[in-house]
Amino acid sequence: MPKDTLTVTDNRTGKTYEIPIENGCIRTPDLRQIKTGSDDFGLMGYDPAFLNTANCKSAITFIDGDKGILEYRGYPIEQLAEKSSFLEVAYLLLKGELPTQKELENFTFNVTHHTLVHENIKSFIDGFRYDAHPMAMLGSTVAALSAFYPDAKNIKDARSREIQITRLIAKMPTLAAFSYRHAMGLPFVYPDNDLSYVANFLAMIKRIGTSAFKVHPTLEKALDVLFILHADHEQNCSTTSVRTVGSSQVDPYSAVAAGVGALYGPLHGGANEAVLRMLREIGSKANIPEFIKQVKGGEGEKKLMGFGHRVYKSYDPRAKVIKRVADEVFDVTGKNPLLEIALELERIALEDEYFVKRKLYPNVDFYSGLIYEAMGFQAEMFPVLFAIPRTVGWCAQWEEMVTDNEQKIARPRQVFTGAARRDYVAQDKRK
Ligand code: CMC
Repeated sequence: MPKDTLTVTDNRTGKTYEIPIENGCIRTPDLRQIKTGSDDFGLMGYDPAFLNTANCKSAITFIDGDKGILEYRGYPIEQLAEKSSFLEVAYLLLKGELPTQKELENFTFNVTHHTLVHENIKSFIDGFRYDAHPMAMLGSTVAALSAFYPDAKNIKDARSREIQITRLIAKMPTLAAFSYRHAMGLPFVYPDNDLSYVANFLAMIKRIGTSAFKVHPTLEKALDVLFILHADHEQNCSTTSVRTVGSSQVDPYSAVAAGVGALYGPLHGGANEAVLRMLREIGSKANIPEFIKQVKGGEGEKKLMGFGHRVYKSYDPRAKVIKRVADEVFDVTGKNPLLEIALELERIALEDEYFVKRKLYPNVDFYSGLIYEAMGFQAEMFPVLFAIPRTVGWCAQWEEMVTDNEQKIARPRQVFTGAARRDYVAQDKRK
């Protein structure tokens, strides 16, 4: 009769242990009973970068990396990208179910009416130098919101959490646009409550001298789809950062600021910026074989940015949708000349044994930067464009973590490899 347990024999002692298996996991604290003697601490798991360690139970996002499946609350990403809208998806991720018309209207109203930021935030952003990276400004100003909303400390109160989450989702585009306008030396544009979430953001970015600026509906729809694709991706680096920082019971602005910091890195949300720089460096299709040779021979120093994923070992389903969106955007904006290089690079890489063997496929960032550039965004804004929608995922995951009775302050163990205890050496005796 099969049993949901794991039987382990410790060959150091000859003792056998039976450990329960639940949801395909063992609880690593169960290993602590495995000891060589009474003063032994007990067995631990060693898993740098959490390659095979689940840190939580989550009901929000499902990924099957081998099959290239991504679902939010059970709904396939392809269907949501085609049929839903970003704020509807935000509601779904946060509340678990698609909203009724009334629920969506209320949610949209609340988000729309929290988009303004305190006037002092403007002077805060003005304090940055002209060449400050917008992602650095975004991270700092989100963290600053913690000081503007002291009530956010009340994380045990469900209503307070809901208000902070609404504020975060609503104010993120405003902070992002203000950071952009500062970097461009342009005056800030205030939110316009008559516009959709995405159109309002684009208006705050693009409006100069006239309130008659109209966002092209194709570009509005394209960015809305991109926001849906980026809204959540289960326990990635930034989400884990939000959960880890949030587990200390700090307010959500501080936790989300940690997420922005993690997303800033070139291996995470900074990858689309890195893809553009890489495509520019390659310069022409003729230089691709040499570039691929350098990637393969470089002991990991040079990477094909926008390729590979910790979880997806087949085509990233988001990248498929993005390729379609790219065509629609380029019909309006004209083709990004770097597209030709990207398509050829993908073709060559997908046939190359190095990439095939390692199951390296284009990820969400391979084409998104090309779209953003065609829409007129500088590369520095790309991670910011990722952070706006990912705020929804961070908030949903934060809410789930705060209400999960099993969660405690995150505090991993270490394997100590330093010096054994020794006595202090006076300075004149040191070699
Ligand atoms: N180009 C060349 N080789 C690669 C690449 C790449 N983009 N990605 C992985 N490899 C190689 C890597 O060198 C290793 O080879 P070997 O087995 O010979 O040592 C093998 O493939 C396995 O890679 P890994 O580094 O163990 O994989 P990982 O799961 O630790 O890293 C990753 C995942 C996304 C950090 C990595 O694939 C990468 O750096 N990609 C480029 C950056 C990028 O596009 N990031 C965006 C990720 S998607 C958006 C997001 O979620 O933030």
